[in-house]
Amino acid sequence: MTTDQAARARAKRLREQIEYHNHCYYTLDRPEIPDSEYDRLFRALQDLEAQYPEIKTPDSPTQRVGGSPLAKFAEVRHGQPMLSLDNALSADAMADFDRRVRERLAREGEVAYVAEPKLDGLAIGLRYAQGLLVQAATRGDGLRGEDVTQNVRTIESVPLRLSGDDWPPLLEVRGEIVMPHAGFEALNARQRERGEKTFVNPRNAAAGSLRQLDPKITADRPLAFLCYGLGEVQGHPMGDTHSGNLQLLEAWGLPVSSERALVTGLEQCASYFQTMAKRREQLEYDIDGVVFKVDQIADQQALGYVARAPRWAIAQKFPAQEELTQVLAVEFQVGRTGAVTPVARLEPVFVGGVTVSNATLHNMDEVQRKDVHIGDTVFVRRAGDVIPEVVKVLLERRPRTAQVVQLPTHCPVCDSEIIRLEGEAVARCSGGLFCPAQRKEAIKHFAARRALDIEGLGDKLVEQLIEKALIENPADLFGLSVETLAGLERMGEKSASNLVAALDQARHTTLPRFLYALGILGIGETIAANVAEACGTLEAVMDLRLSDLVEIKESQARRLHQLLSDESELPAQVEALGPRDGVKWFNQVHAALLAERFACTVDLLAADPLKLANTPRIKIEGVGDLLAEKLVTFFRQPHNREVIAKLQAAGVDWPEVQPSTVSAPGPLVGKTFVLTGTLSEPRPAIKERLQALGAKVTGSVSSKTDYVVAGSDAGSKLAKAQALEVEILDEQGLADLIGDG
Ligand code: IVH
Repeated sequence: MTTDQAARARAKRLREQIEYHNHCYYTLDRPEIPDSEYDRLFRALQDLEAQYPEIKTPDSPTQRVGGSPLAKFAEVRHGQPMLSLDNALSADAMADFDRRVRERLAREGEVAYVAEPKLDGLAIGLRYAQGLLVQAATRGDGLRGEDVTQNVRTIESVPLRLSGDDWPPLLEVRGEIVMPHAGFEALNARQRERGEKTFVNPRNAAAGSLRQLDPKITADRPLAFLCYGLGEVQGHPMGDTHSGNLQLLEAWGLPVSSERALVTGLEQCASYFQTMAKRREQLEYDIDGVVFKVDQIADQQALGYVARAPRWAIAQKFPAQEELTQVLAVEFQVGRTGAVTPVARLEPVFVGGVTVSNATLHNMDEVQRKDVHIGDTVFVRRAGDVIPEVVKVLLERRPRTAQVVQLPTHCPVCDSEIIRLEGEAVARCSGGLFCPAQRKEAIKHFAARRALDIEGLGDKLVEQLIEKALIENPADLFGLSVETLAGLERMGEKSASNLVAALDQARHTTLPRFLYALGILGIGETIAANVAEACGTLEAVMDLRLSDLVEIKESQARRLHQLLSDESELPAQVEALGPRDGVKWFNQVHAALLAERFACTVDLLAADPLKLANTPRIKIEGVGDLLAEKLVTFFRQPHNREVIAKLQAAGVDWPEVQPSTVSAPGPLVGKTFVLTGTLSEPRPAIKERLQALGAKVTGSVSSKTDYVVAGSDAGSKLAKAQALEVEILDEQGLADLIGDG
């Protein structure tokens, strides 16, 4: 193949690719590649055609402006073509533009330009006849667009009638339809809720919203309009300058960007560009660069046009915020509060002005929603200083070898179990005190006023202690000496000994404070107090099992057994049974509970269905199934137990808690007894025994009474119990119930 043939073949391929992406972008509103990638293809073709002019064809995309109009809207022939802009991708390219303008105009001094944000939406032409909006058309291929008048009428910032009366009888304004950020986020949230497709970016959302055949849908979408120029004008002339014309448009009630400025010479252009690059994040809508336009209309006319763009204007683009790259792996990071975040390791890519090689995937729900696999080609977005994000997967480029992303079962930092409860987006490491990723926060929390209240141990000091590896866990605090502490920044002999004294004092605490200080997920002060009260001792708390706390009703047990027996494929491990389709109550906690009691699904299915039921031993106020799981998991972790043992060895203690009569742990929790008649033991002794088992013992019979224990000569209480159909026990019955005798 000759060089010429090779260039021809390459140009053909590029044209096909560009046509294909034009179709996706303009006609289907479903771009498959980011603009930057499209621009690269386009420039490659332009360069090739410049190098081999003989291979240029009249239908080359370089000779056209956009896509062909969609069949469904009526076609509109533009009175004046809607053109595109040349891009300057660097300060040098910008300097070239300014030089060319001055040369062509044979200008000695500097040229005045109107600088405007380059709005990232879609171009629109609005025709006003006698001041009334009569037509709105998209750009289409630049010569013919689509009639979207009905839809545009629904946009609030588009005036249906111009103010004043000095407008030309026919006025076409050109501008951009955009979707402000806030509206975009809200729209995507709504789409997600309804299970409908979400939009990759505001521009796409704007395009998709405008090109709806049903104007009601458009009306419901948060669109806005800003104008930046003129199309056809008839009747009487507009002003001599672009800046003056924008002012006129504004006076007639048309929205014009307030960010525009009149700048003179290259230097002012550069400083406007820098300012906008920073301001960009604060604007309500996306902009992707700055447009500079020669201000004098006479100069514009002298400069004229080349194929698809005016010679009197240029777009200086910001670095692209979206790029395509590949997901090489997905790793999991553990944050300071234990949140486990999936992070995509990417083939490094230049986006948003920096090289990006990681992007957050937020949480597993997001991974599933975006359907990210390892090996996928993805859109990565980096806007401003925001952490880079994977916005979309290119499913059509998924390799066969792509792998599903799985949440690890154990923390990559400390190897503790990771818990992710149903209904919670975030998975968390249960390593708490032990996990190095969470150390700083765990110790700050431990020392906090409402926890162990260690006076003088501020956040900065905790950070120093950990960074210098002087402590690893809260127990180590109690081993710190005055000498060690005095050697630290901003610590003197005096404050060091004060801190040691404060540590000494903090050792003596209460069980609720201690439980709270451990920083167990979801266990705040109130719950910690309830747990302490219900269990009485730390040992009792540490020995809690899910079966002590979580209920599986008999009816549920039966249904579950039936359901599982009907299933053809079950996991070997009970824990993996997880939530079942159509069974609302059976969640991960229930699966974990059954896993405590059955080694494998075979055992579980072989058991009597009723054996799957579970009556909790204890009821702790505020501790539902999910918290129960968190509590039990925390104390199951060997390293948490180790830190607790070390704390106790370091002398951390508390006065004994009187377990409450209402909810002490025991088989009789929640049961109310009344003792009556003469019994073989003193009543107070029996009462104490019952209370130790968790029962409540009251003096009078009511419908809330569960049992009446009746001795000989029982009188009115027995009669009342009979009337209310309360269960009556004799002493033998009581002995059977509580399992002694
Ligand atoms: S002037 C003949 N000004 O950028 C001049 N265009 O890449 C035509 N755009 O199709 C355009 N902000 O959709 C102009 N301040 C601005 C703009 C702007 C965004 C869009 C417009 C145009 C595209 C060209």
